[in-house]
Amino acid sequence: MPRTEFIATGFHVPDRVVTNDELSRMMDTSDEWIRQRSGIRTRHWVSDGETGASLARAATLKALARASLKPSDLDCIVYCTCTPDHFEPGNGVFLERELGLTDIPAIDVRNQCSGFIYGLSVADAWIRTGQYRRVLLVGAEVHSRGLDKTTRGRDTAVLFGDGAGVAILGPTDDPRRGVLSTHLFADGRHAEKLWVDAPGLAHDPYISEELIREGRHRAVMDGRDVFKFASILMPQSVVAALQANCITPADVTLLVPHQANRRIMEMVQKAIGLRDDQVYVNIEKYGNTTAASIPIALDEALCEGRLERGDLLVLTAFGSGFTWASAAVRW
Ligand code: COA
Repeated sequence: MPRTEFIATGFHVPDRVVTNDELSRMMDTSDEWIRQRSGIRTRHWVSDGETGASLARAATLKALARASLKPSDLDCIVYCTCTPDHFEPGNGVFLERELGLTDIPAIDVRNQCSGFIYGLSVADAWIRTGQYRRVLLVGAEVHSRGLDKTTRGRDTAVLFGDGAGVAILGPTDDPRRGVLSTHLFADGRHAEKLWVDAPGLAHDPYISEELIREGRHRAVMDGRDVFKFASILMPQSVVAALQANCITPADVTLLVPHQANRRIMEMVQKAIGLRDDQVYVNIEKYGNTTAASIPIALDEALCEGRLERGDLLVLTAFGSGFTWASAAVRW
């Protein structure tokens, strides 16, 4: 059976940069509070006319150009997002249309911050079994239009940003390279600790003025519990990846964690025992872009020359659900 390799990556963020000082003019917060609690200095927000699918398209065109491929070379789209452009259909078909394609399957993965690794697991299974050869794996989010930009929503509004990152995946016959493993986890007992209640068909009607007045269409988070569980479960997922592949922390060239919060990433680094140069962090520029954060960070790390052929890459994520996941990749 072939392994799955990363053929090319790409990312795109909107031009509009929003600083912490700009947020502090919208709500009762401060640059110091945001930087100390999260490590975030700026994030990008979409402007009129931009959508999740348009960000994903721009990221895809960069990756295709790097791989010297055309959209028609793609066999399948796996689109990971928790901020779809519309309630239905899924965003994969909107991206397919934006790429000028009409005849490839497009699946949406709704696993929030763990979405990219969940999607990688799906793509990896399809590639290894030969069902699809060239899979476009997308993580793309538009959070800014959903944030409560008043003091009521400040605990979440300061954390999230918009952006898209993609990877083009395909089979390699080199047995030493490619995706070595993916490990996926979920525990729905914590579903309401980071969630958006409405619109939802658990409500009748599924959206109403009352639901909106109560702010139930906004992301609500139990920040302390999210922090506590992320600090424990992300390292556990990394340990699962290391153990399954008989590798030690010293063997890891680069850990690319989901960029949720600098303090959470520091806890993960400490728990695993990694040096600073083994962990990639870019949250200061983009904030938490949920399913897009890992592919954005991975693409930046590659552009900085942080991974060479044969290096060991580990990915880890944690988010709403709770869901968490890891992947090990021999580059
Ligand atoms: N600016 C200023 N003050 C804020 C604020 C903001 N943006 N957001 C919340 N506060 C206030 C709170 O209201 C609270 O005020 P109070 O003491 O008067 O009630 C105070 O700051 C401290 O709140 P606390 O809960 O102690 O802060 P914290 O140290 O736990 O940090 C988070 C809050 C959200 C930064 C932190 O819990 C966290 O990082 N959680 C994980 C979030 C995350 O990564 N989510 C995505 C996971 S994928």
